[in-house]
Amino acid sequence: MMADKDDLILHNIGRLYTFRGEGAVAGKAMDSPVIIEGAALTARGGKISMVGREEEVWERADLGEAAECIDCGGRVVVPGFVDPHTHAVFGGTREFELAMKLKGASYLDILEAGGGILRTVKDTRSLSTEELTTLLDERLDRMLRYGTTSVEIKSGYGLDRETELRLLRAVRGSSSPLTKVATFLGPHAVPPEYRDRPDEFLDMMIEMLEGIAREGLAQYADIFCEKGVFNAEQTRRFLSAAREAGLGVKVHSDEIENLGGTIVGASLGAVSADHLLVSTEKDLEAMKRSGTVPVLLPATLMTIFEDRVPDVRGIMEMDLPLAIATDLNPNCMVESMQFIQTLACYRLRMTPNEILAASTVNAAFAIGLGDRKGRLKEGYDADILILKDPSFDHVVYHFGVNHVDTVIINGKVIERDMEW
Ligand code: NIG
Ligand code: FE
Repeated sequence: MMADKDDLILHNIGRLYTFRGEGAVAGKAMDSPVIIEGAALTARGGKISMVGREEEVWERADLGEAAECIDCGGRVVVPGFVDPHTHAVFGGTREFELAMKLKGASYLDILEAGGGILRTVKDTRSLSTEELTTLLDERLDRMLRYGTTSVEIKSGYGLDRETELRLLRAVRGSSSPLTKVATFLGPHAVPPEYRDRPDEFLDMMIEMLEGIAREGLAQYADIFCEKGVFNAEQTRRFLSAAREAGLGVKVHSDEIENLGGTIVGASLGAVSADHLLVSTEKDLEAMKRSGTVPVLLPATLMTIFEDRVPDVRGIMEMDLPLAIATDLNPNCMVESMQFIQTLACYRLRMTPNEILAASTVNAAFAIGLGDRKGRLKEGYDADILILKDPSFDHVVYHFGVNHVDTVIINGKVIERDMEW
């Protein structure tokens, strides 16, 4: 039930950032956030109740007696970051692959030799649900301290019925206060037992979809459409079945080779298509028609030693609502959206304002939360960051440190006065 009085007020905000309207923020509009100087904000029952100029908010606020009052000291307030693509639940690490990659082995060479995803599958299958949840929660806690308040988490390191379900249950068992969206990525690779029978493996993953949807274990289904992994036809078969089972769909496409996965995903109404390094204009047009959010993963490019970058300006010019994500996985060990924001600037040449839109409002749309997350606006969830700086530009510009001072999730202060 909605509380009848405001229970939180943030005041003395130097600059508050939010976005106009209600939909995802496309293309040029990404560079024009709404910036309120000298702002304040109130919340009640976990939702934002008012945002505006300081004097106006004080005048109209209806504060309860026990309301928490936070003086922001003239600093910046932004919506909590949304990380719309992670593989945050897995066992083991793969630091030893660095040396192999430095000697010239490619991502697909390592996978082909039974390493990469398949190595992590070995390290994951031996863990219990509780052990997986503990590892996940440690990672989510680091994400939170770096400002992430909502996250998408994919399964995909089980590649058998039991372990895939265990991974989704481990996500469900998480006690982290972040908002979590679970995605079933059963077809993440072909496990060794099915090496010569990928379609049989895919059939098994398809059979799981109904149960997963019925139990509410995942909201989305995803597949790795890539050379040597799953082709466009298999992608269509799996994602169509997922839709029929009532799940939303996503796709890993155009990361290394363009097999047509983006077009298949878009034709099935995918909420997002992710990676997109080698996407063409046709792929972008398909996403535009279907309202699919393009999600770019700049840290992944770095960890596979890829010097090329996706066509960011093409995406912007087509008025697509670009989002960015960590892709946290054992090949790309990064929890911090701030690190991704820095790469988005220095590698993808996005402006700080575009980057903020890509990691809040558009990221929320990439995981189906756009109607309640990613904006500081009346009626939206009170997921809020107080940063240590006078403008968001500093977060992108000054890297390798944590700019988050305070994290608020659903109107509750989770972290406060964090050190640099
Ligand atoms: O999105 N590309 C496929 N999946 C992950 C990597 C997973 C892994 O290497 O363990 C990704 O980059
Ligand atoms: Fe991924």
